[in-house]
Formats: sequence, structure tokens, C-alpha cells
Amino acid sequence: MKKFVLLLLAAFIMFGCASNSEKGKPPKFKAPKIAKTEEQEPVYDKVDGVAVDMNNKGIGPVKSVTIPETIDMALAKEGEGIYNALCLACHRPTQKFIGPAPKGVLERRSPEWVMNMIINPEKMVAEDPIAKKLLIEYNGSPMANQGVTEEKARAILEYFRTL
Ligand code: HEC
Repeated sequence: MKKFVLLLLAAFIMFGCASNSEKGKPPKFKAPKIAKTEEQEPVYDKVDGVAVDMNNKGIGPVKSVTIPETIDMALAKEGEGIYNALCLACHRPTQKFIGPAPKGVLERRSPEWVMNMIINPEKMVAEDPIAKKLLIEYNGSPMANQGVTEEKARAILEYFRTL
């Protein structure tokens, strides 16, 4: 026991000395290492300030969508009709409203992500990193599930290409 107390005392003295000898010296600052390279730098979208990740396909039934170069205007028209009926209440095509404006959405999100967000919003805002941030950005008001089928979501996606 005595030994232990002595050891403790010695430790205190050593510690005391060490900090004494540091006195008067300017505090040491270690510059943080910047390991990030240019390409690792996250890009944030201009609309909502959420990190853009075009490789994120979201969570839901849509795994892969092929987008032909030319816009299918008939499909876009069909999508516009569905959009006006189900989405317009919260989404103005070109202006931020209750939710983000869909204009330019395909430049900040992958088409699969957009379709999964339309079909499976509850799971998306709970688990997807982008959707989770959007939910915070939009004051916790969640995107509504409108019971949209994959086919209808694809038509809406085509309409978004025309905005
Ligand atoms: C009750 C309001 C509401 C309705 C109705 C609604 N949304 Fe949303 N939507 C939101 C909100 C709010 C967000 C932002 C994320 C969040 O808070 O959940 C969002 C996010 C989105 C996003 C992601 C946008 C981005 O910039 O990443 C898409 C795409 C979207 N909605 C499409 C639709 C479509 C298509 C419909 C119609 C089928 C629809 N929404 C209906 C409120 C709504």
C-alpha cells in the first residue's frame, strides 16, 4: 500500500514537473492533415445543399433505369398528368415549395433514386442518406406516399426531363 502511495506521489511529481517545464513555451498546435484530394471533395447541389451522389440508387424496387437520349413526349405528357394530380400540391415544377422543385433533379440524383423516392418515400427518408438530409432540410415534413406504381413513376421521370 505504501509503495502504491509512493508511486502515485512520484507520478504526481513527474506530471507536475513536465507541465512546469512546458510553461512559457507557446502552445503546440498540430496542423490538421488534409488528406482529401480534389476528386474526394463532396459536391453539394445548389438547390438543397445536400451532397450529390449519382451512384446512389436509393432504396426500393427500382434497380436500374435506362434513359434513351430523346425524350418520349407521349410518356412525358402522361407523367405530367399524374404529377399534376398527385404531386403539384407540394411540388412546384420550377420552384422550391413544400418539397424541392423537380427541375434539374436528374442532374443531382440518379434516375433510380428519383423513382424509388416516388415509390418508396417512407423507407427512403428513414434510411437513405440523401433523403434523410432532405427531410431535415424540409423541416421534417415527409414526402407522402401516393401509391404510385413503377410504371407511373417512370412516366413522371420522363416529365421531369422536360422541365
Ligand atoms: C405532402 C407533400 C408532398 C407530396 C404530395 C409529394 N411530395 Fe415529393 N417531397 C416532399 C418533401 C417535403 C420532399 C423533401 C424530402 C422530405 O422532406 O421527405 C420531397 C421530395 C421529393 C423528391 C426528391 C427531390 C430532390 O430534389 O431530391 C422527389 C423526386 C419527389 N419528392 C417527387 C414527388 C412526386 C413525383 C410526387 C407525386 C407522385 C410527390 N413528390 C408528392 C413532399 C411531397
